[in-house]
Amino acid sequence: KKELQVAIDGPASAGKSTVAKKIAHRFKYVYCDTGAMYRTVTLKAMRENVALDDPEALAKMLTKTEITFKPGNPEQLVFLDGQEVTMAIRQPDVTNNVSTVAAQGTVRADLTNRQRQIAEAGGIVMDGRDIGTSVLPDAEVKIFLVASVEERAQRRFKDNAEKGIHTPIETLKKEIETRDHKDSTRAISPLTQAKDAIRLDTTALSIDEVVAKISDIIVQKR
Ligand code: C5P
Repeated sequence: KKELQVAIDGPASAGKSTVAKKIAHRFKYVYCDTGAMYRTVTLKAMRENVALDDPEALAKMLTKTEITFKPGNPEQLVFLDGQEVTMAIRQPDVTNNVSTVAAQGTVRADLTNRQRQIAEAGGIVMDGRDIGTSVLPDAEVKIFLVASVEERAQRRFKDNAEKGIHTPIETLKKEIETRDHKDSTRAISPLTQAKDAIRLDTTALSIDEVVAKISDIIVQKR
């Protein structure tokens, strides 16, 4: 049995992290949420008043930035320079600014390096926007998860409600569309399906159905 690299990409709120966590658990693989890394960098820049579109200033900040994950229940915990930021990075102000930070080449280069190190030994499920195309081009399993905007806004609405965030559905739809547009049109490693990725539309599928489909693919490859 081989310890595979599993790359799961797709637009905002397509269910990537929920599915990726379950796959990781099932195969005893490490789960790495790369979106959380971009969010953590964004949070720090906002807190330290570093301009979100200044690639040099962000690069400098990153030389003194530590991002770590620890297992937690139900969610993996995220730490910024030793301080827990799991909830803080999911707040709407971070969500609405993260695409600006993620478009900066210096930030992408830095985080891509960190992600490759994490994935090096295999046995990894990594989700994001550019994992199959840029971070892990040789990943044995590449999945591109999509769902309608309406469905994704509904899912985000439910997730938010559990976290005590109450943004109207229509606002969420606009936010999702804006973020997808920014992520898909940026110059450096935009959100796009890798040629060798398998596209899964999850609009009408349950989480367990999606997990089952991806698990079958992994079992065949390892
Ligand atoms: O996955 P999540 O919605 O948490 O990602 C937050 C943002 O981080 C995305 O909208 C995108 O701008 C950025 N991102 C990225 N590349 C990745 C993962 C996330 O640019 N691999």
